[in-house]
Amino acid sequence: MYRDGSDANETVIPFGTTLIRMAATLRHPELLAYRDEFPLLSRSTYLNTCSLGALTDRSRAKLAEFLDQWGSLGARAWYTHWLEELVGLRDDFGWTIGRPAEEIALAPNVSVALASLASAFDAPGARDPGRTRVITTTLDFPTLGHQWLARTPLGVEVVVLPSPDGLTVPLSVFDAAIDERTLLVATGHVYFTTGAVQDITGLAALARSRGALTVIDAYQATGLLPTDIAATGVDAYVSGTLKWLFGGPGNAFLWLRPELLEALAPTTTGWFSSARQFAFDVASLEFASDARKFEMGTPSVPSAFVARGAMELVREIGIPRLHQRTLDLGALAIRLADERGLSVRAVRDDAWRGGIVAIEVADPKPVVDELARRGIIVDYRPGIVRLSPAFYNTEAEVEAVIGALAELILPS
Ligand SMILES: Cc1ncc(COP(=O)(O)O)c(C=O)c1O
Repeated sequence: MYRDGSDANETVIPFGTTLIRMAATLRHPELLAYRDEFPLLSRSTYLNTCSLGALTDRSRAKLAEFLDQWGSLGARAWYTHWLEELVGLRDDFGWTIGRPAEEIALAPNVSVALASLASAFDAPGARDPGRTRVITTTLDFPTLGHQWLARTPLGVEVVVLPSPDGLTVPLSVFDAAIDERTLLVATGHVYFTTGAVQDITGLAALARSRGALTVIDAYQATGLLPTDIAATGVDAYVSGTLKWLFGGPGNAFLWLRPELLEALAPTTTGWFSSARQFAFDVASLEFASDARKFEMGTPSVPSAFVARGAMELVREIGIPRLHQRTLDLGALAIRLADERGLSVRAVRDDAWRGGIVAIEVADPKPVVDELARRGIIVDYRPGIVRLSPAFYNTEAEVEAVIGALAELILPS
């Protein structure tokens, strides 16, 4: 069963008392034609896209373009090329969630995007004084909780919800916690250790019914899950290019629901947020009427060029194909790991699984180091080895990694 209802070529496998459905063959083998554009893939077995997507030749070519412009035009390049490239990056990010460039604020990373948003709630009158709580979960990436923990001196209280199964946080857990003291529910679209997809539509409806806002960290979803953000009802969405957009470090974004974008104003800012940026008027600040309101200072232009090279490829392939092939590779990894007797920590239903398959290992670092010695790149988090095959990986690579893991982990 696939989230997009596409022609799933399924196999049904008994798992405990339930039947699980998985793709019998990998869809979109035609995408393997792109492998040649990723030099890393011929040098290693790379199953670590959830940490950092591999570099494409298109990014390298775009970076060379940036350097040529700098070398030949100097500061003129801002007006002839670079500002336009930033508009293009906003447009690329907007495309991933079905929204226009004007609703996208660029940031150098998700932490800055979140900090800029969080600063808006520091303004007097920006929130109901009774709403002091920010709810997050134990499965979330630390920067999400840290934004609000840093504000405990300002009266913010952070509530960290548990995960009953170590994989997911069901809506019932949020339901029990969100109340009239809740300002925000801040959680992931796809959890970074378990790859579980959160029901952000259900969560947004639940939060709204109690007068709270939702802030979603989509780093492990963007480029992987087809997303119509307006249809989900979430209030704020942040993500970046490091992982499933293959665009490297230095590029992230903040999207706000249009009514919220209008209502909120940051209290941490920079001159790129000004409606009259090139008036150079130090004495007055009028924010841009679009999402640039939440931008800061001079962006990392080389990073934007690198990202745009990769985005060209992502747009060419389209997120539904990237999603389907990634799901199938993950399903294959789960099936092979089960067969070998490895302890898999992953959601069994494709409809609620992203691009990560975790294998439980008490002391994962030496295992990951040994794999790296053998030319297999994966990574680890406490208690797990994280595998994240992407569209460019082959069936044989997944088999090789599971085989090597079984050899290293299981008693001989
Ligand atoms: C879910 C999630 N959020 C955030 C980040 C990174 O945040 P930042 O862009 O602030 O480094 C990562 C990975 O690096 C992540 O997996």
